[in-house]
Amino acid sequence: MPERVRAETPPVSFDDYAGRARAVLAPDVWDYVAGGSAAEVTLAANRTALDRVAVLPRVLRASHTVDLGTRLLGRPYAMPVGVAPMAYQRLVHPDGELGLAAAAGAAGVPYLASTLSSTPIEQVAGAGAEVWFQLYWLRERALVRDLLDRVVAAGCRALVVTVDVPVLGRRPRDLRNAFQLPPDVVAANLPQGRDALAHSGAPGVSAIAAHTDASFESALRWTDLAWLREHVDLPLVVKGVLDPRDAIEAVRVGADAVVVSNHGGRQLDGVPASVTMLPEVLAAVGDRCQVLLDSGIRGGTDVLRALALGAAGVLVGRPMLWALAVGGQQGARDALVLLAAELRDALTLAGCADPAAAADLRTLGAG
Ligand code: FNR
Ligand code: LAC
Repeated sequence: MPERVRAETPPVSFDDYAGRARAVLAPDVWDYVAGGSAAEVTLAANRTALDRVAVLPRVLRASHTVDLGTRLLGRPYAMPVGVAPMAYQRLVHPDGELGLAAAAGAAGVPYLASTLSSTPIEQVAGAGAEVWFQLYWLRERALVRDLLDRVVAAGCRALVVTVDVPVLGRRPRDLRNAFQLPPDVVAANLPQGRDALAHSGAPGVSAIAAHTDASFESALRWTDLAWLREHVDLPLVVKGVLDPRDAIEAVRVGADAVVVSNHGGRQLDGVPASVTMLPEVLAAVGDRCQVLLDSGIRGGTDVLRALALGAAGVLVGRPMLWALAVGGQQGARDALVLLAAELRDALTLAGCADPAAAADLRTLGAG
């Protein structure tokens, strides 16, 4: 008797991508991507807090078409979503950054390129997406200047400074796994060999943490951001803000947007879910800058929750790496098509003709 072969069902949720990615990734790579810091309290809180945000839909306001289009940093995008900056994407699939950037381009959403990309920014910028460059401020200021010149020359559309990594959070999974980069995955934006520490494993040590701690500026100040504002002619985004007072500082140095984020629960453990702080940050900055949210976004209903609370948009992190791991560039494209379909459904069911209309929805239990 021939075995009954069931046609493979395509993933219908980001959870499906997670399950499949777990099956194909090396355990230490899965742990690096999926894991959080310390007891992973914040990692879990990001989900439970989003699940507690209940959105009140409106009825009988039907529109035949829902338009997902939105403006972020003054530019039009196909939906209020960006691909979060994530390091070393070739760890999960050879398509790496080029695959994810091409998928973002096909979906009409911005791709945020990490300083720690495993593909040089010039190539990523040519992959078909609008690229926002995410800066990790390095101790060597000459390297930062050089990187900024390359970013502008490559045609990046925005500069996103991540401010929640003075050092890398302590991540027990990576420490147990003595996680290190394989030889063929390198920090391609840095001069050759500058990532040597990230390849040098030792028991109980995360090589990635050793590398970042040795190379990142751990004493970055608001005045450094003011310097950036003055010297780099690109919209400025500050990523990694939770306290509304810091959001106000960001506005003061001229930021065009802030990302309310706890780095997906990978930095200081025990901090609130980012969605918990979203309302306070929005109240603090008003319309002086755009407010984006990340950490825990896993589908269209989460995007609706963020919009209903008043965010201009969201960034999606891990699910994009899972989709890349599962199907390379095509997998990532499919995942963004899925997210757009989910968001379209969510807006339709909530009685909203577009993302802007969602800001008028009532919510209960904001985080
Ligand atoms: C990240 N994140 C991140 N952020 C950043 O500014 N620069 C970076 O290089 C990285 N690298 C990175 C690697 C990996 C494997 C992950 C999972 C995350 C954080 C990222 O941009 C984002 O804030 C979170 O991933 C959002 O949470 P979710 O969507 O993953 O829950
Ligand atoms: C991380 C860093 C590299 O979260 O941002 O792994």
